[in-house]
Amino acid sequence: MTQNLDAYWMPFTANRQFKQAPRMLTGADGMIFTDDRGRKILDGIAGLWCVNAGHNRPKIVEAIQRQAALLDFAPPFQMAHPKVFELANRLIELTPAGLNKVFFTNSGSEAVDTALKMAIAYHRVRGDASRTRLIGRERGYHGVNFGGISVGGIVGNRKLFGSMLGGVDHLRHTHDPARNAFSVGQPLHGAEFANDLEKLIALHDASTIAAVIVEPVAGSTGVLIPPIGYLQRLREICDKHGILLIFDEVITGFGRTGQPFAAQTFGVTPDLMTAAKGLTNGCVPMGAVFATQAIHDTFMTGPEHLIEFPHGYTYSGHPLACAAALGTLDTYADEGLLTRATEMQGYFAEGLHSLKGLPHVIDVRNIGLIGGVELTPLPGEPGKRAFSLFLDCWEQGLLIRITGDTFALSPPLIIERSHIDQMIDTLRKALVKAA
Ligand SMILES: Cc1ncc(COP(=O)(O)O)c(C=O)c1O
Repeated sequence: MTQNLDAYWMPFTANRQFKQAPRMLTGADGMIFTDDRGRKILDGIAGLWCVNAGHNRPKIVEAIQRQAALLDFAPPFQMAHPKVFELANRLIELTPAGLNKVFFTNSGSEAVDTALKMAIAYHRVRGDASRTRLIGRERGYHGVNFGGISVGGIVGNRKLFGSMLGGVDHLRHTHDPARNAFSVGQPLHGAEFANDLEKLIALHDASTIAAVIVEPVAGSTGVLIPPIGYLQRLREICDKHGILLIFDEVITGFGRTGQPFAAQTFGVTPDLMTAAKGLTNGCVPMGAVFATQAIHDTFMTGPEHLIEFPHGYTYSGHPLACAAALGTLDTYADEGLLTRATEMQGYFAEGLHSLKGLPHVIDVRNIGLIGGVELTPLPGEPGKRAFSLFLDCWEQGLLIRITGDTFALSPPLIIERSHIDQMIDTLRKALVKAA
Protein backbone atom coordinates (compact mmCIF):
# COMPACT_ATOMS: atom_id res chain seq x y z
CA MET A 1 0.00 0.00 0.00
CA THR A 2 1.54 3.33 -1.05
CA GLN A 3 -0.01 6.22 0.78
CA ASN A 4 0.92 9.84 1.37
CA LEU A 5 1.85 10.04 5.05
CA ASP A 6 2.57 13.79 5.17
CA ALA A 7 -0.67 15.35 6.42
CA TYR A 8 -1.16 13.35 9.59
CA TRP A 9 0.74 14.68 12.66
CA MET A 10 0.96 11.64 14.90
CA PRO A 11 0.48 11.78 18.69
CA PHE A 12 3.29 10.72 21.07
CA THR A 13 5.22 9.37 18.06
CA ALA A 14 8.65 9.89 16.58
CA ASN A 15 6.96 11.16 13.39
CA ARG A 16 10.04 11.29 11.15
CA GLN A 17 11.24 7.83 12.15
CA PHE A 18 7.74 6.37 11.71
CA LYS A 19 7.24 7.85 8.25
CA GLN A 20 10.53 6.36 7.06
CA ALA A 21 9.47 2.87 8.19
CA PRO A 22 5.72 2.85 8.95
CA ARG A 23 4.18 0.24 11.22
CA MET A 24 0.63 -0.01 9.88
CA LEU A 25 -2.10 -2.10 11.48
CA THR A 26 -4.99 -3.14 9.25
CA GLY A 27 -7.00 -5.66 11.28
CA ALA A 28 -7.32 -7.33 14.66
CA ASP A 29 -8.97 -10.36 16.23
CA GLY A 30 -8.60 -11.79 19.72
CA MET A 31 -4.93 -11.49 20.76
CA ILE A 32 -3.67 -10.76 17.26
CA PHE A 33 -3.21 -7.70 15.06
CA THR A 34 -2.66 -7.99 11.29
CA ASP A 35 -0.35 -5.52 9.56
CA ASP A 36 -0.30 -4.20 6.01
CA ARG A 37 2.20 -6.89 5.04
CA GLY A 38 -0.29 -9.55 6.15
CA ARG A 39 1.85 -10.47 9.16
CA LYS A 40 0.31 -11.60 12.46
CA ILE A 41 1.40 -9.50 15.46
CA LEU A 42 0.77 -10.67 19.03
CA ASP A 43 -0.76 -7.82 21.04
CA GLY A 44 1.35 -7.61 24.19
CA ILE A 45 -0.21 -4.37 25.41
CA ALA A 46 -3.99 -4.66 24.83
CA GLY A 47 -3.72 -1.98 22.12
CA LEU A 48 -2.70 0.72 24.59
CA TRP A 49 -3.73 -0.82 27.92
CA CYS A 50 -7.37 -0.74 26.81
CA VAL A 51 -8.47 -3.77 24.78
CA ASN A 52 -8.86 -5.91 27.90
CA ALA A 53 -11.32 -8.38 26.36
CA GLY A 54 -9.24 -8.79 23.19
CA HIS A 55 -10.10 -7.51 19.73
CA ASN A 56 -13.23 -7.81 17.62
CA ARG A 57 -15.56 -9.14 20.32
CA PRO A 58 -19.02 -9.89 18.88
CA LYS A 59 -21.14 -8.47 21.74
CA ILE A 60 -19.31 -5.15 21.56
CA VAL A 61 -19.34 -4.92 17.76
CA GLU A 62 -23.07 -5.73 17.62
CA ALA A 63 -23.95 -3.30 20.42
CA ILE A 64 -22.21 -0.44 18.59
CA GLN A 65 -23.83 -1.34 15.26
CA ARG A 66 -27.32 -1.55 16.78
CA GLN A 67 -26.91 1.72 18.67
CA ALA A 68 -25.65 3.66 15.63
CA ALA A 69 -28.85 2.80 13.78
CA LEU A 70 -31.14 3.54 16.77
CA LEU A 71 -29.92 6.77 18.38
CA ASP A 72 -26.69 8.24 17.05
CA PHE A 73 -26.49 11.19 19.43
CA ALA A 74 -28.43 12.61 22.38
CA PRO A 75 -27.50 15.96 23.91
CA PRO A 76 -26.09 15.29 27.38
CA PHE A 77 -26.90 18.69 28.93
CA GLN A 78 -30.44 18.85 30.36
CA MET A 79 -31.24 15.70 28.30
CA ALA A 80 -30.31 12.04 28.44
CA HIS A 81 -30.95 8.59 26.96
CA PRO A 82 -31.71 5.33 28.78
CA LYS A 83 -28.40 3.58 28.13
CA VAL A 84 -26.36 6.12 30.07
CA PHE A 85 -28.35 5.32 33.24
CA GLU A 86 -28.16 1.59 32.56
CA LEU A 87 -24.40 1.87 32.22
CA ALA A 88 -23.98 3.94 35.41
CA ASN A 89 -26.01 1.35 37.34
CA ARG A 90 -23.96 -1.52 35.93
CA LEU A 91 -20.66 0.21 36.70
CA ILE A 92 -21.39 0.89 40.35
CA GLU A 93 -21.91 -2.84 40.87
CA LEU A 94 -18.19 -3.20 40.07
CA THR A 95 -16.67 -0.22 41.89
CA PRO A 96 -15.44 -0.36 45.48
CA ALA A 97 -18.27 0.08 48.01
CA GLY A 98 -19.05 3.77 48.49
CA LEU A 99 -18.10 4.94 44.99
CA ASN A 100 -21.62 4.97 43.64
CA LYS A 101 -21.89 8.08 41.44
CA VAL A 102 -20.54 8.23 37.89
CA PHE A 103 -19.68 11.28 35.74
CA PHE A 104 -18.80 10.51 32.10
CA THR A 105 -16.00 12.02 30.01
CA ASN A 106 -14.38 10.97 26.71
CA SER A 107 -10.86 10.06 27.77
CA GLY A 108 -8.59 9.45 30.71
CA SER A 109 -7.16 12.97 30.46
CA GLU A 110 -10.62 14.48 30.70
CA ALA A 111 -11.51 12.17 33.59
CA VAL A 112 -8.44 13.39 35.48
CA ASP A 113 -9.18 17.08 34.95
CA THR A 114 -12.82 16.45 35.88
CA ALA A 115 -11.79 14.75 39.13
CA LEU A 116 -9.42 17.60 40.04
CA LYS A 117 -12.15 20.18 39.40
CA MET A 118 -14.64 18.12 41.39
CA ALA A 119 -12.26 17.97 44.35
CA ILE A 120 -11.62 21.73 44.45
CA ALA A 121 -15.28 22.57 43.88
CA TYR A 122 -16.39 20.09 46.56
CA HIS A 123 -14.40 21.89 49.23
CA ARG A 124 -15.64 25.26 48.07
CA VAL A 125 -19.28 24.23 47.96
CA ARG A 126 -19.10 22.94 51.51
CA GLY A 127 -17.60 26.25 52.66
CA ASP A 128 -13.88 25.38 52.77
CA ALA A 129 -12.73 27.52 49.83
CA SER A 130 -9.08 27.72 50.90
CA ARG A 131 -8.56 24.05 49.98
CA THR A 132 -7.37 24.48 46.40
CA ARG A 133 -3.92 22.89 46.41
CA LEU A 134 -3.41 19.63 44.49
CA ILE A 135 -0.72 17.09 45.31
CA GLY A 136 0.55 14.74 42.60
CA ARG A 137 3.63 12.55 42.46
CA GLU A 138 6.94 12.51 40.64
CA ARG A 139 6.79 10.14 37.65
CA GLY A 140 2.99 10.28 37.73
CA TYR A 141 1.10 10.26 34.41
CA HIS A 142 -2.38 11.69 34.41
CA GLY A 143 -2.94 12.39 30.75
CA VAL A 144 -2.05 15.45 28.76
CA ASN A 145 -4.45 18.26 29.71
CA PHE A 146 -3.18 21.14 31.83
CA GLY A 147 -4.50 19.77 35.13
CA GLY A 148 -3.12 16.32 34.40
CA ILE A 149 0.36 17.49 33.37
CA SER A 150 0.50 19.84 36.37
CA VAL A 151 -0.11 17.08 38.91
CA GLY A 152 1.83 14.64 36.72
CA GLY A 153 5.53 14.21 37.21
CA ILE A 154 7.03 13.60 33.79
CA VAL A 155 9.34 16.42 32.79
CA GLY A 156 9.20 15.63 29.08
CA ASN A 157 5.42 16.14 29.12
CA ARG A 158 5.67 19.47 30.98
CA LYS A 159 8.71 21.41 29.91
CA LEU A 160 7.48 22.63 26.51
CA PHE A 161 4.21 24.00 27.75
CA GLY A 162 4.94 27.01 29.93
CA SER A 163 3.27 27.57 33.28
CA MET A 164 1.58 24.67 34.92
CA LEU A 165 -1.42 25.05 37.26
CA GLY A 166 -0.48 27.06 40.32
CA GLY A 167 -0.72 25.58 43.80
CA VAL A 168 0.52 22.11 42.94
CA ASP A 169 3.13 20.07 44.76
CA HIS A 170 4.46 16.54 44.38
CA LEU A 171 5.25 13.50 46.50
CA ARG A 172 8.40 11.57 45.73
CA HIS A 173 7.96 8.56 43.43
CA THR A 174 8.24 5.12 45.00
CA HIS A 175 10.83 3.57 42.67
CA ASP A 176 13.63 2.18 44.84
CA PRO A 177 15.65 -0.36 42.86
CA ALA A 178 18.44 -0.46 45.46
CA ARG A 179 16.03 -2.17 47.89
CA ASN A 180 13.33 -3.58 45.62
CA ALA A 181 14.85 -4.70 42.28
CA PHE A 182 13.33 -7.95 40.93
CA SER A 183 10.49 -7.94 43.48
CA VAL A 184 7.77 -10.41 42.51
CA GLY A 185 4.50 -8.51 42.97
CA GLN A 186 4.40 -5.67 45.49
CA PRO A 187 7.81 -4.51 46.72
CA LEU A 188 8.48 -4.89 50.45
CA HIS A 189 10.17 -1.55 51.00
CA GLY A 190 8.85 1.98 50.67
CA ALA A 191 5.56 2.43 52.59
CA GLU A 192 7.33 5.35 54.27
CA PHE A 193 7.44 7.30 50.97
CA ALA A 194 3.82 8.14 51.79
CA ASN A 195 5.03 10.15 54.78
CA ASP A 196 6.08 12.81 52.25
CA LEU A 197 2.47 13.88 52.45
CA GLU A 198 2.90 14.77 56.13
CA LYS A 199 5.91 16.89 55.11
CA LEU A 200 3.92 18.73 52.45
CA ILE A 201 1.14 19.29 54.97
CA ALA A 202 3.68 20.73 57.41
CA LEU A 203 4.89 23.04 54.62
CA HIS A 204 1.57 24.19 53.13
CA ASP A 205 -0.92 23.41 55.93
CA ALA A 206 -3.74 20.92 55.40
CA SER A 207 -6.27 23.75 55.21
CA THR A 208 -4.86 24.65 51.75
CA ILE A 209 -4.90 21.12 50.28
CA ALA A 210 -7.88 19.81 48.30
CA ALA A 211 -6.68 16.44 47.09
CA VAL A 212 -3.88 13.98 46.44
CA ILE A 213 -3.86 12.12 43.13
CA VAL A 214 -1.85 8.98 42.38
CA GLU A 215 -1.98 6.02 40.04
CA PRO A 216 -2.25 2.88 42.20
CA VAL A 217 0.24 1.36 39.74
CA ALA A 218 2.16 3.92 37.68
CA GLY A 219 2.17 2.62 34.12
CA SER A 220 3.51 5.27 31.80
CA THR A 221 6.72 5.91 33.70
CA GLY A 222 7.78 2.34 33.59
CA VAL A 223 5.45 0.16 35.69
CA LEU A 224 5.99 1.19 39.31
CA ILE A 225 4.17 -1.11 41.73
CA PRO A 226 3.10 0.41 45.08
CA PRO A 227 5.17 -0.88 48.02
CA ILE A 228 3.22 -2.89 50.58
CA GLY A 229 1.40 -0.50 52.93
CA TYR A 230 2.07 2.63 50.85
CA LEU A 231 -1.48 3.27 49.61
CA GLN A 232 -2.91 2.46 53.07
CA ARG A 233 -0.62 5.06 54.60
CA LEU A 234 -1.65 7.70 52.03
CA ARG A 235 -5.29 6.94 52.86
CA GLU A 236 -4.67 7.35 56.61
CA ILE A 237 -2.91 10.68 56.20
CA CYS A 238 -5.61 12.03 53.87
CA ASP A 239 -8.31 11.00 56.35
CA LYS A 240 -6.49 12.58 59.26
CA HIS A 241 -6.31 15.93 57.45
CA GLY A 242 -9.60 16.08 55.51
CA ILE A 243 -7.83 15.73 52.12
CA LEU A 244 -9.52 13.84 49.28
CA LEU A 245 -7.68 10.86 47.81
CA ILE A 246 -8.01 10.37 44.05
CA PHE A 247 -6.94 7.14 42.36
CA ASP A 248 -6.26 7.43 38.65
CA GLU A 249 -7.33 3.97 37.48
CA VAL A 250 -7.23 4.70 33.76
CA ILE A 251 -4.93 1.75 33.16
CA THR A 252 -5.56 -0.32 36.29
CA GLY A 253 -9.37 -0.33 35.96
CA PHE A 254 -11.31 -3.25 34.51
CA GLY A 255 -9.40 -6.29 35.63
CA ARG A 256 -5.78 -5.38 34.98
CA THR A 257 -4.61 -6.24 38.52
CA GLY A 258 -6.95 -9.18 39.14
CA GLN A 259 -9.98 -7.33 40.54
CA PRO A 260 -12.28 -4.92 38.72
CA PHE A 261 -10.23 -2.01 40.16
CA ALA A 262 -6.79 -1.78 41.77
CA ALA A 263 -8.49 -0.15 44.79
CA GLN A 264 -9.95 -3.59 45.47
CA THR A 265 -6.69 -5.45 44.80
CA PHE A 266 -4.84 -3.22 47.28
CA GLY A 267 -7.74 -2.85 49.74
CA VAL A 268 -7.78 0.97 49.73
CA THR A 269 -10.83 2.98 48.65
CA PRO A 270 -10.29 6.50 47.30
CA ASP A 271 -12.86 9.33 47.41
CA LEU A 272 -12.71 9.87 43.65
CA MET A 273 -11.56 7.40 41.00
CA THR A 274 -10.94 7.91 37.30
CA ALA A 275 -11.29 5.29 34.57
CA ALA A 276 -11.26 5.10 30.75
CA LYS A 277 -9.59 2.61 28.35
CA GLY A 278 -11.01 -0.79 29.43
CA LEU A 279 -14.39 0.84 30.10
CA THR A 280 -15.30 0.35 26.42
CA ASN A 281 -12.55 -2.14 25.61
CA GLY A 282 -10.96 0.74 23.71
CA CYS A 283 -13.66 0.53 21.01
CA VAL A 284 -15.27 3.97 21.45
CA PRO A 285 -13.63 6.77 23.45
CA MET A 286 -15.03 7.09 26.96
CA GLY A 287 -13.81 8.02 30.43
CA ALA A 288 -15.47 8.23 33.82
CA VAL A 289 -15.06 9.66 37.29
CA PHE A 290 -16.53 7.73 40.21
CA ALA A 291 -17.42 9.74 43.32
CA THR A 292 -18.77 8.98 46.76
CA GLN A 293 -22.37 9.70 47.65
CA ALA A 294 -21.13 12.34 50.12
CA ILE A 295 -19.16 14.26 47.47
CA HIS A 296 -22.08 14.12 45.06
CA ASP A 297 -24.63 15.15 47.67
CA THR A 298 -22.55 18.14 48.72
CA PHE A 299 -23.27 19.66 45.31
CA MET A 300 -27.02 18.95 45.47
CA THR A 301 -28.04 22.16 47.20
CA GLY A 302 -29.49 25.51 46.10
CA PRO A 303 -32.40 26.20 43.76
CA GLU A 304 -33.39 23.02 41.91
CA HIS A 305 -33.53 24.61 38.46
CA LEU A 306 -29.84 25.57 38.60
CA ILE A 307 -26.93 23.47 37.37
CA GLU A 308 -25.06 22.10 40.38
CA PHE A 309 -21.70 21.28 38.74
CA PRO A 310 -20.93 23.48 35.72
CA HIS A 311 -18.82 20.96 33.86
CA GLY A 312 -19.32 18.36 31.11
CA TYR A 313 -18.54 17.54 27.48
CA THR A 314 -20.66 17.47 24.32
CA TYR A 315 -19.91 13.75 24.11
CA SER A 316 -20.29 12.86 27.83
CA GLY A 317 -22.22 9.58 27.95
CA HIS A 318 -22.36 9.34 24.14
CA PRO A 319 -24.85 6.66 23.04
CA LEU A 320 -22.24 4.73 21.01
CA ALA A 321 -19.80 4.78 23.92
CA CYS A 322 -22.52 3.58 26.32
CA ALA A 323 -23.46 0.76 23.96
CA ALA A 324 -19.80 -0.23 23.61
CA ALA A 325 -19.34 -0.14 27.38
CA LEU A 326 -22.42 -2.28 28.01
CA GLY A 327 -21.24 -4.83 25.42
CA THR A 328 -17.84 -4.74 27.10
CA LEU A 329 -19.24 -5.34 30.59
CA ASP A 330 -21.29 -8.27 29.22
CA THR A 331 -18.17 -9.75 27.65
CA TYR A 332 -16.16 -9.31 30.86
CA ALA A 333 -18.96 -10.96 32.88
CA ASP A 334 -19.56 -13.88 30.45
CA GLU A 335 -15.88 -14.80 30.49
CA GLY A 336 -14.92 -13.90 34.07
CA LEU A 337 -12.29 -11.51 32.70
CA LEU A 338 -12.26 -9.02 35.56
CA THR A 339 -10.63 -11.57 37.85
CA ARG A 340 -8.80 -13.61 35.22
CA ALA A 341 -5.49 -11.85 35.90
CA THR A 342 -5.39 -13.61 39.28
CA GLU A 343 -5.34 -16.98 37.44
CA MET A 344 -2.72 -15.97 34.91
CA GLN A 345 -0.44 -13.75 36.98
CA GLY A 346 1.69 -16.57 38.42
CA TYR A 347 2.64 -17.95 35.01
CA PHE A 348 3.10 -14.44 33.63
CA ALA A 349 5.37 -13.46 36.54
CA GLU A 350 7.44 -16.64 36.14
CA GLY A 351 7.99 -15.88 32.46
CA LEU A 352 8.91 -12.25 33.09
CA HIS A 353 11.30 -12.99 35.93
CA SER A 354 13.03 -15.64 33.77
CA LEU A 355 14.48 -12.64 31.86
CA LYS A 356 16.60 -11.76 34.90
CA GLY A 357 20.25 -12.30 34.07
CA LEU A 358 19.87 -11.53 30.35
CA PRO A 359 22.05 -8.71 29.00
CA HIS A 360 21.20 -5.21 30.30
CA VAL A 361 18.17 -6.32 32.38
CA ILE A 362 18.41 -4.40 35.67
CA ASP A 363 14.88 -4.90 37.06
CA VAL A 364 11.68 -6.85 36.47
CA ARG A 365 8.39 -5.66 37.99
CA ASN A 366 4.94 -7.22 37.88
CA ILE A 367 1.42 -7.22 39.30
CA GLY A 368 -1.67 -8.89 37.83
CA LEU A 369 -1.26 -8.80 34.04
CA ILE A 370 1.15 -5.86 34.09
CA GLY A 371 4.85 -6.39 33.54
CA GLY A 372 7.81 -4.04 33.32
CA VAL A 373 11.41 -4.84 32.43
CA GLU A 374 14.03 -2.14 32.88
CA LEU A 375 17.26 -2.04 30.88
CA THR A 376 20.49 -0.15 31.37
CA PRO A 377 20.42 2.84 29.03
CA LEU A 378 22.99 3.15 26.24
CA PRO A 379 25.59 5.64 27.47
CA GLY A 380 24.46 9.17 26.58
CA GLU A 381 21.42 7.93 24.64
CA PRO A 382 18.56 7.33 27.06
CA GLY A 383 15.63 5.43 25.58
CA LYS A 384 17.52 4.20 22.52
CA ARG A 385 18.19 0.66 23.72
CA ALA A 386 14.52 0.07 24.53
CA PHE A 387 13.44 1.64 21.24
CA SER A 388 15.65 -0.78 19.29
CA LEU A 389 14.16 -3.64 21.29
CA PHE A 390 10.65 -2.40 20.48
CA LEU A 391 11.50 -2.37 16.75
CA ASP A 392 13.03 -5.82 16.91
CA CYS A 393 9.96 -7.24 18.70
CA TRP A 394 7.74 -5.65 16.05
CA GLU A 395 9.77 -7.35 13.32
CA GLN A 396 9.45 -10.64 15.22
CA GLY A 397 5.65 -10.21 15.52
CA LEU A 398 5.15 -8.87 19.04
CA LEU A 399 3.79 -5.45 20.02
CA ILE A 400 5.22 -4.07 23.28
CA ARG A 401 5.29 -0.57 24.74
CA ILE A 402 8.36 1.32 25.86
CA THR A 403 8.90 4.26 28.14
CA GLY A 404 12.45 5.43 28.67
CA ASP A 405 14.52 2.25 28.89
CA THR A 406 11.72 0.19 30.40
CA PHE A 407 9.42 -1.93 28.32
CA ALA A 408 5.91 -2.70 29.48
CA LEU A 409 3.55 -5.58 28.86
CA SER A 410 -0.20 -5.38 29.56
CA PRO A 411 -1.78 -8.03 27.36
CA PRO A 412 -5.51 -8.59 26.84
CA LEU A 413 -6.99 -10.49 29.78
CA ILE A 414 -8.01 -13.36 27.45
CA ILE A 415 -4.34 -14.31 27.17
CA GLU A 416 -3.41 -18.02 27.24
CA ARG A 417 -0.18 -19.61 28.44
CA SER A 418 0.97 -20.18 24.84
CA HIS A 419 0.81 -16.41 24.23
CA ILE A 420 2.86 -15.76 27.36
CA ASP A 421 5.44 -18.28 26.12
CA GLN A 422 5.57 -16.54 22.74
CA MET A 423 6.00 -13.09 24.35
CA ILE A 424 8.79 -14.22 26.64
CA ASP A 425 10.61 -16.15 23.85
CA THR A 426 10.46 -13.12 21.58
CA LEU A 427 11.77 -10.82 24.29
CA ARG A 428 14.52 -13.27 25.19
CA LYS A 429 15.68 -13.44 21.56
CA ALA A 430 15.59 -9.65 21.24
CA LEU A 431 17.57 -9.11 24.44
CA VAL A 432 20.21 -11.67 23.46
CA LYS A 433 20.49 -10.18 19.97
CA ALA A 434 20.89 -6.66 21.39
CA ALA A 435 23.76 -7.71 23.69
C1 LIG B 1 -2.94 6.73 34.55
C2 LIG B 1 -3.41 7.44 33.31
N1 LIG B 1 -4.17 8.52 33.42
C3 LIG B 1 -4.63 9.17 32.35
C4 LIG B 1 -4.31 8.75 31.08
C5 LIG B 1 -4.79 9.52 29.89
O1 LIG B 1 -5.77 8.84 29.21
P1 LIG B 1 -6.16 9.30 27.71
O2 LIG B 1 -5.00 9.00 26.84
O3 LIG B 1 -7.41 8.48 27.42
O4 LIG B 1 -6.48 10.76 27.78
C6 LIG B 1 -3.52 7.60 30.91
C7 LIG B 1 -3.18 7.12 29.57
O5 LIG B 1 -2.39 6.23 29.38
C8 LIG B 1 -3.04 6.94 32.06
O6 LIG B 1 -2.22 5.88 31.95
